[in-house]
Amino acid sequence: MALSTGSNKLKTAVFISGAGSNLKSLIKFSLLKKSPISIDLIISNNPKSKGLKFGKIFNIKKRIFYFKKKNSAEKKILSELKKNKIDLICLAGFMKILSKNFIKNFKGKILNIHPSLLPKFKGLNTHKRAIINKEKYSGCTVHFVNSKLDSGKIILQKKIKINNNDTPKILAKKILIQEHKLYPKAILKIFSP
Ligand code: GRF
Repeated sequence: MALSTGSNKLKTAVFISGAGSNLKSLIKFSLLKKSPISIDLIISNNPKSKGLKFGKIFNIKKRIFYFKKKNSAEKKILSELKKNKIDLICLAGFMKILSKNFIKNFKGKILNIHPSLLPKFKGLNTHKRAIINKEKYSGCTVHFVNSKLDSGKIILQKKIKINNNDTPKILAKKILIQEHKLYPKAILKIFSP
């Protein structure tokens, strides 16, 4: 597939806290010619995020901000985003809840991926809750971020069958594979003519 050389793409910051497998899939997607985004900044609240290694591998600037004092962390992040002329934020396994004020600064320009079929199972432990609830299906959702947790407008969803012997771990693995496809698809859906 053609690789992108141009820079007239939407400058994007990806926020992570953990493994960063969605970050990796977004970076790979961003390098394709058809991608409307470039990944220019990786932000984490956790210096131990395994995903930070992708900054080094793909030569992308990375920054860590501790959220002990949320207000001041968010202020610093906003100024870093401004400095780097960031147009779009993709949350990808970012475990902190952004304040109303922060979101207001990027209204309609923050996306998130969530491992359930929203509006079902907002918040944490989605796979365990879906299994306990005896759901036949679960899946993943890409949505715009608003001030209510996991409640912004849905862009795309992928449904996955829950098998009888699925544990939360097995289900998480199956869904994560689909997340890696869904996030790029959702971005194409919003930004491609
Ligand atoms: C994903 O399941 C994502 O939907 C959820 O946290 C997980 C992050 O995984 N919000 P990774 O860090 O992208 O590997």
